[in-house]
Amino acid sequence: GVTPKIAPSMLSSDFANLASEAKRMLDFGADWLHMDIMDGHFVPNLTIGAPVIESLRKHTAAFLDCHLMVTNPIDYVEPLGKAGASGFTFHVEVSKENWQELIQKIKSKAMRPGVALKPGTPVEEVYPLVDSENPVEMVLVMTVEPGFGGQKFMPEMMDKVRVLRKKYPSLDIEVDGGLGPSTIEMAASAGANCIVAGSSIFGAAEPGTVISHMRNCVLE
Ligand code: DX5
Ligand code: ZN
Repeated sequence: GVTPKIAPSMLSSDFANLASEAKRMLDFGADWLHMDIMDGHFVPNLTIGAPVIESLRKHTAAFLDCHLMVTNPIDYVEPLGKAGASGFTFHVEVSKENWQELIQKIKSKAMRPGVALKPGTPVEEVYPLVDSENPVEMVLVMTVEPGFGGQKFMPEMMDKVRVLRKKYPSLDIEVDGGLGPSTIEMAASAGANCIVAGSSIFGAAEPGTVISHMRNCVLE
């Protein structure tokens, strides 16, 4: 079976206090820390890269769930591996030719490979990567257009989650974008078990309550 992983998106944190924000989320019961790496090219926003992951790693042993919204993910494998990243989720839209080499490299740096798909990308595109002899270990279904926090959840993406859950009963399926108390039930009942949430957690009066509520909704 699958286990719930609640992953606060540190994109919604105070980047000037990243270590204490991370600790605060772990104290509230977060399972993973979701790190949004954007290159200003694949998406119209620029965030952090390997140097910041390396700095944060010195302050926590937590699983750093890195989401690569970049055009050339292969260039990031070695630096992120060295920096201490845990998960490396690349976008299928930019990995049409070299995904086998990419997965291999990610694993050789002791990171856990995942593949993400944008709202407009058909779910079938990730099947070969999951069915491969050297497979990804997680599929991230984007529930907003990647680039920014605080956008509205797209419920029509739940069809992708349902299809994936039916086909792969024990696969980690992550959802990212617009998740919070009002959308978690849709995502969880569709079969998602890894839940990324930025604004709904960081904006809450009681982030710990939001985290435990979301964990309780995930079906094990
Ligand atoms: C968006 C990022 C998300 C984002 C989620 O491109 O991938 O991780 O931070 O933020 P919320 O939960 O506010 O939609
Ligand atoms: Zn993300």
